[in-house]
Amino acid sequence: MMENQVYHIPALLGPTLEGMAIRPDGTYADLTFGGGGHSKAIMQQLNQRGRLFSFDQDIDAYANRLDDTRFCFVHGNFRYLKNFMHYYGVSALDGILADLGVSFHHFDTAQRGFSFRYSSPLDMRMNTSAAITAADIVNTYTEEQLTNIFRLYGECANPKRIAHTIALKRQTTPITTTNQLVDLLSTVILHDKEKKEMARVFQALRIEVNDEMGALKQMLNAALDMLRPGGRLVILTYHSIEDRIVKNFMRSGNIEGKIEKDFYGNTLSPFLIINNKVITATPEEVESNPRARSAKLRIAQKK
Ligand SMILES: C[S@@+](CC[C@H](N)C(=O)[O-])C[C@H]1O[C@@H](n2cnc3c(N)ncnc32)[C@H](O)[C@@H]1O
Repeated sequence: MMENQVYHIPALLGPTLEGMAIRPDGTYADLTFGGGGHSKAIMQQLNQRGRLFSFDQDIDAYANRLDDTRFCFVHGNFRYLKNFMHYYGVSALDGILADLGVSFHHFDTAQRGFSFRYSSPLDMRMNTSAAITAADIVNTYTEEQLTNIFRLYGECANPKRIAHTIALKRQTTPITTTNQLVDLLSTVILHDKEKKEMARVFQALRIEVNDEMGALKQMLNAALDMLRPGGRLVILTYHSIEDRIVKNFMRSGNIEGKIEKDFYGNTLSPFLIINNKVITATPEEVESNPRARSAKLRIAQKK
């Protein structure tokens, strides 16, 4: 990270905190600590008995940890929420926050390989000791697997063509840097849509590298088990695939989004939806923090 670079600016801070409906003596988990913006705001609402466990799988976030005995930094993947809470002797949580995806720190740190703006190894791992990098995926996945990733996670306009171009190129030269990928993509992406499409390809690879959808699904099930009745599940999403998963889970209580009904036709869900209409950033917030423009906030309460 460059000196004086902002680690992250939290999106929708006010509505997120309001959505958490903090009990001052409660036990909370912020599953995506990052720069600690949301965590700090949660801490400010806790009294001496309150506790906060903040997770991040990226050890860089540890540098932002809060110096407070009520605070615990958990270096790990939130998919193991239950295991970690068990380890810390916590049987139930009063609220769980997840601000999904990557931080500014990831995009703005050239050598991490998340951004097509910089030249670097094609990495994109949030957990730098994880086994698979973006280069591994680009060079070893089948053309069909790549097409699926670009279609599903990137919603790319031309997933097949992009995958085919990669498959041809790597027969002669392995693709190991962001620059190589960018040069290759610029041969198949329409010039006027270049930045948007590049961002989509990079997003798709990042989601696959970090198994973001797998981790999200596992975490949602764990969150349902860990929440106390009345506890809040507050989630910020940044693209339609993860938002759909969260929306369906909050409505149904299961990953498939299968709505169960009772004898009288009433929906059986373990959650009460707090905001039927998704909450997004105001124009003022987007003006001061353009990266908040795609944030969607969903809040549910365990019945
Ligand atoms: C959008 S940022 C969160 C920013 C934070 N709310 C703040 O105020 O600074 C997402 C963070 O979650 C972390 N993260 C993403 N997926 C994770 C996972 N499955 N387990 C643990 N941490 C994860 C990322 O490393 C990143 O630091």
